[in-house]
Amino acid sequence: MCMKIGVMDSGIGGLTILESLLKNCPNHEYIYFGDTYNLPYGEKTKNELINCANKVISFLEKENVDIIVVACGTVSSNIEYVKSNVPLIDIISPLKDMLDNYNLISIIATPLSIKTNAFQKYINTKLNLIATPLLVPIIEGNIKKDVNKVLKEYLERAKGSDALILGCTHYPIIKDEIKKIYKGEIITLDKFIIEKINKLKGNKSSLKIYYSKLNESIINNTYKILKRDKLIIERVCLNDK
Ligand code: DGL
Repeated sequence: MCMKIGVMDSGIGGLTILESLLKNCPNHEYIYFGDTYNLPYGEKTKNELINCANKVISFLEKENVDIIVVACGTVSSNIEYVKSNVPLIDIISPLKDMLDNYNLISIIATPLSIKTNAFQKYINTKLNLIATPLLVPIIEGNIKKDVNKVLKEYLERAKGSDALILGCTHYPIIKDEIKKIYKGEIITLDKFIIEKINKLKGNKSSLKIYYSKLNESIINNTYKILKRDKLIIERVCLNDK
């Protein structure tokens, strides 16, 4: 049976999960949606976030997806409020029981993800939660020159922990910069999703990418993150105006 899998995020961050899926579970039809028009999600109110997420989900449902991978830490942290007619696979609940062998784990994530206490729900280890609001705008805006200074300040607070979870799917895009500053183990959320999707059988591969706002930088970043030379990328307007 062929699975049509929707993958959603506020922008290019979910591509880090999609890239892993394409590499490790290639036999599926993937439809990606990045809600770049409404980004960043991490600074919205809960209601604003749910409203945006629901629109993306109903778009993907109309594309006849069988399941949706919520490749966004912020939406995953609020998954119980989101409405969907197809099963949702979030990226935070798979952390359950997988991180028991640590003394102290630091997590960097968006302000809204940190505020919801979602990580504490699934991880038993002592946690050091660090809200990092400047990172998504820096990554989406390609403002690499600012990243080291900002990261140094944030990661100063992660000192002394055994591992650092990149709790937002945008952050693996700057993993090399993070590695230069944080010397402990770095955990990304893709590996837990791969384990789940690998259980689904598929026999057909395809990929289509949609954004609610599209420009050259988004297109270039998409090619760079997915490491492909031919992609179908389209703009779709989900807002009422
Ligand atoms: N990639 C989203 C996440 O994982 C970023 C949210 C945002 O747009 O602030 O949380």
